[in-house]
Order: sequence, then structure tokens, then C-alpha cells
Amino acid sequence: MKPHNIQFSLNGEKVSLQVEPSDVLLDVLRGRLGIKSPKVGCDRGDCGTCTVLMNGKTIRSCLALAVEADGAEIVTLEGANSRPWTQKLQKTFHKKNAFQCGFCAPGVILSATELLEKNSKPTAHDIKEAIAGNLCRCTGYEPIVEAIAETVKG
Ligand code: FES
Ligand code: FES
Repeated sequence: MKPHNIQFSLNGEKVSLQVEPSDVLLDVLRGRLGIKSPKVGCDRGDCGTCTVLMNGKTIRSCLALAVEADGAEIVTLEGANSRPWTQKLQKTFHKKNAFQCGFCAPGVILSATELLEKNSKPTAHDIKEAIAGNLCRCTGYEPIVEAIAETVKG
């Protein structure tokens, strides 16, 4: 099959490149575009470490083909750092020491950003639902849920 030329916005900058039809978005972001916050975890849609925002919604970039990004706005944690909720979340997580190894952190922060941008008064249930797709092997989730709840209180 023929390569495709694609163009998309990556963290606010226009990116044009040629990809194979079977190229996976996560691999293109990490391997070709030097974006390292989405991590390679399970590589099959289970763990959420590869989470990025596509047109404002979280997706698992290990399950997306690079061609699906054509014309889209992709935001990774590197670019989300300028979003108000992302900044507040990172400050609270840091203050509360809510992560341990941090491998899940980019995915969790982006899932929480998506939630708070839609709903700035989430219940504990809303928070748990929003991060349900982000596996954390270290914390038992309680500090993560608490940090998101505390971020909302400001
Ligand atoms: S690496 Fe994508 S969901 Fe685990
Ligand atoms: S802090 Fe280690 S996986 Fe979440």
C-alpha cells in the first residue's frame, strides 16, 4: 500500500509527514516526532499510558493509526502544560505527592484535564469514571482521586 501524506496540529504546531497506512500514532509521536510523554505500556489498549487528546478527547494512541490524525488537533502532555486545568492538576499532584513512579502520570493528567474541562464540579464517581482507563500499579488510586478532587477545590 502507498504511503500517505498527513498534516495535523501537534501541541499547536503544524506537522506534515509521510506515513505508512499501518503506522501507529504512538510510534510516530515517539519515534519520529520526539514526543515522549505518551508511554508504551501494554500496546493493546488496556493501560492508558499512551493517552493523548485528539480534538479535545482522550484517545489511546497505541490503538490509533497515524492516518487518523490527518487534519486533527493532537495534544500531548507537553502541549497541555499551557491549559489551565492541566497546570492546576500538576501543581496539586506535586504538592500531594500523588504519584510514585509516574509512569501513568501523563495519561492520568490528560484524562483528568478532559474531565475538568467538561465538568469543573465532578463527584468522586465522575473522577473515578474519568480515570478508569488509566492503570496505576503503584498508588491504589486513592491519592490520584484525592488530588483531582483537591484541584477542583482550588
Ligand atoms: S500502551 Fe496504549 S493502552 Fe496501553
Ligand atoms: S505512579 Fe506508578 S504506575 Fe502510577
